[in-house]
Amino acid sequence: MNAKSIVVMASGRGSNLRVLLDAIKRGECPVDVHLVISDRADAGALAIARQAGVAEVLHINPKDYADREEYDVACGDAIEAAGCQWVVLAGYMRILSPRFVQRFAGSIINIHPALLPAFTGADGVGDALKYGVKFSGCTVHLVDDVLDGGPILAQAVVPVEDNDDYESLHQRIQAEEHLLYPATLKRIVEDGFYIKGRRVIWRV
Ligand code: GAR
Repeated sequence: MNAKSIVVMASGRGSNLRVLLDAIKRGECPVDVHLVISDRADAGALAIARQAGVAEVLHINPKDYADREEYDVACGDAIEAAGCQWVVLAGYMRILSPRFVQRFAGSIINIHPALLPAFTGADGVGDALKYGVKFSGCTVHLVDDVLDGGPILAQAVVPVEDNDDYESLHQRIQAEEHLLYPATLKRIVEDGFYIKGRRVIWRV
């Protein structure tokens, strides 16, 4: 198993995957995206991965499996066969089964478009906007069995402007995601961390 080999799991446009692949190409992020998995055949992330020459690009269709757990076993088997050390979620919109989280315990990383622990769940951007916060942002965190609840690796803050709508706020948050995710992955593989209580303590 290569300590720097990762799988990216994505359901959507794939802009986080794209900037990560670009950062790797520029030598700014020392990981190897060996495998990309999507639950959606039409995910932009799949096209981006194929175009970039990612070694294995898989659409694994949930409809081919009896339930969430079986689906996650298939994804997990593909990840293990590929020898990936880190499971990186980038706009992956399925809730992971406890068995999958257990299987890759401590090695699953997610990016969420809000400042956790506020606005967990599927619509972090819209919920923050509706609530009326003046600042939001993004969070990179470890995944455990609580939805959006694992220890926090990194966060970035953005202001919410009076004239923001969903799109403008999401765009501002995504600009920060695109810097924060590659930088945090670099730190994970180069420096490492340990967990103290709920806190992530970086080794450097
Ligand atoms: C990102 O903003 C990410 O934070 C969010 O989905 C978007 C994916 O964008 N993830 C979640 O909401 C997870 N709950 P992308 O497909 O362009 O990378």
